[in-house]
Amino acid sequence: MEEEYQQILKNAEAAIKSVETRADFESFKASVVGPNGELTKAMKGMAKVPKEDKPRVGKALNMVKKDLEALFQKHLKTIEDREMAARIGAPVDPSLPVPGESWGGKHPLTKVREEIIHIFRRVGFSVAEGPEVETEYYCFDALNTPSDHPARDLQDTYYFPPQTRFANISQKEKERYLLRTHTSSVQIRTMLETEPPVRIVSPGRCFRRDTADATHSANFHQIEGLYVDRKVSVRDLKALLDYFIKSLLGPSAKTRFRPHFFPYTEPSFEVDFSASHLGKVGSQWIEIAGCGLVHPSVFESVGYDSKEWSGFAFGMGIERIAMILHGVDDIRYFYQNDQRFLQQFQG
Ligand code: DAH
Repeated sequence: MEEEYQQILKNAEAAIKSVETRADFESFKASVVGPNGELTKAMKGMAKVPKEDKPRVGKALNMVKKDLEALFQKHLKTIEDREMAARIGAPVDPSLPVPGESWGGKHPLTKVREEIIHIFRRVGFSVAEGPEVETEYYCFDALNTPSDHPARDLQDTYYFPPQTRFANISQKEKERYLLRTHTSSVQIRTMLETEPPVRIVSPGRCFRRDTADATHSANFHQIEGLYVDRKVSVRDLKALLDYFIKSLLGPSAKTRFRPHFFPYTEPSFEVDFSASHLGKVGSQWIEIAGCGLVHPSVFESVGYDSKEWSGFAFGMGIERIAMILHGVDDIRYFYQNDQRFLQQFQG
């Protein structure tokens, strides 16, 4: 009897070595101590053991049971450890060198945006913010942009499905929501909230359907400017943008205005600069902004009296300025987060 018990223990000790998974472990354990297990069957033999031998045989049986229990426990722990190790992956080697001493830093677009804002703050402009999700009214209608304007085309603009609602973004009526195509919508939201005079710049993200290439991205950044006061003229506008360009690129940089059309300004201009001292710019004139005097109908849509108030507005692309400043020849570098690119702007 006792030998039989010992044999079961020995067999189990040998066989358990090849048990690898939890499922196999459970069925192996059942095959020894389960209701039909080997040991359970052998225990039935106790009935036939003579009375005087029972204490001794019983003791031997208990010993074997205990040893088996310890064997199972130990093996289960091995399986669990192996499972855990598989989940955490390869062990860490603490003797490897640390991955560089980089503390992170500001993105080049953030730096350029901050630099632009700093220049405008010095002459009394504050920063206004507007939502990236807009409605057709604030993005177009209030800016005197008719419904047949190409910017309003589905092909050019990201509209939300008609049933979409944004509780935190006010609509004029029940007009459609879209991702703003320019920061000019902040002009409207700001004027609706404040009485003139106004002196703000508003940087932010804009969205247009565009195929990405070296100079286009469906997602880009602009900075808008708005100045409203009495008797504001094109001279004021030109003087401010001159000051801005010289502050950004150096005192020998020049600006020129070319007549243009924007629905929300009259007259309207495109602004070019030249900065022959910047090697990468050379002798060319480079377009940098759109601007003009605020159209009277824009004032009317925000409830400003256009006989009393006048103003100018301008808008420019932040990526474009960053590319000129730093000689970056592909806009996509700004969005790829490649450390080799980003690290050049640190320090
Ligand atoms: N919104 C124009 C654009 O996205 C830029 C612009 C032009 C803004 C003239 C203005 C402006 O405020 O007066 O191309």
